[in-house]
Amino acid sequence: MRLKDKLAIITGAASGMGRSGLELFAHEGATVVAVDIDAARLDAVVADTRSRYPRVYALAADLTQRDQMRSIIHKAAALMGGLDILWNNAGMAGPAEVEGLDDAAYDRSIELNVTSGILGSAEAVPYMRKRGGGSIVFTSSVSGVVGSQLSPTYSAAKFAVVGFAKSLALRLAEENIRVNAICPGMTETGMLSTFMDRNHDAETVARNTKAFIASTPLGRIARPEEIAHAALWLASDDASFITGVALSVDGGLSAK
Ligand SMILES: NC(=O)c1ccc[n+]([C@@H]2O[C@H](COP(=O)([O-])OP(=O)(O)OC[C@H]3O[C@@H](n4cnc5c(N)ncnc54)[C@H](O)[C@@H]3O)[C@@H](O)[C@H]2O)c1
Repeated sequence: MRLKDKLAIITGAASGMGRSGLELFAHEGATVVAVDIDAARLDAVVADTRSRYPRVYALAADLTQRDQMRSIIHKAAALMGGLDILWNNAGMAGPAEVEGLDDAAYDRSIELNVTSGILGSAEAVPYMRKRGGGSIVFTSSVSGVVGSQLSPTYSAAKFAVVGFAKSLALRLAEENIRVNAICPGMTETGMLSTFMDRNHDAETVARNTKAFIASTPLGRIARPEEIAHAALWLASDDASFITGVALSVDGGLSAK
């Protein structure tokens, strides 16, 4: 078991990549606190997972609210008796436009996509230090390593995540706390349709989706568990000499 006796938090765990990660981390022996804004779906997912793995817990929070982001780390660590792994995974598409940008929508997306992971990491580090090390994983995006015509402000946020992950990795390396980012390509989750649909008619969405798949060397959309496997690897001791990496899990898209 690759996460035997490890204590982990996964944000955005009620669906998509985070949900796959909850199942996978628990299967690999971790105790996991799953965090999400959607309390009903989170409870259902955790109840289902708990029927197979008893040491999984649900904590609902809106991670765009700084006090909630901070306090969730302390609540989770208290519940589990410590913390080894934080997967900062929750994110949102946010606004697609640049001209006529809606300030409130922009602020909310930056709070979730950038700030929540920064604040969560800051609160998590002292717990990891106490246990002699740890692993922080961020979900960035292929849009965090190459520009996104469809979503410039999302891309700005995901580039920021990579910059923070690399910088924090340097700062924490001597304390044996590893920090890495995953950069997924298009992945079959609820967020994908929101991302593609914004302000577009069905024909444009279909054209954009087809173009994205065509530009992906492996020629398809990822399954959420393929991203969760990358997070598992980075979180585990299998990646004990890996820190400061932005790992592309994008079917080769960013290799071009
Ligand atoms: N799906 C893709 O194509 C894709 C590609 C690259 C990166 N990503 C990134 O992957 C991560 C996971 O997204 P996903 O694709 O699994 O989507 P998803 O919509 O399936 O999951 C995101 C989860 O985050 C939760 N969430 C949203 N706002 C929240 C908030 N304010 N507080 C707490 N939880 C909140 C949602 O309820 C949801 O359960 C995100 O960071 C996203 O930006 C997605």
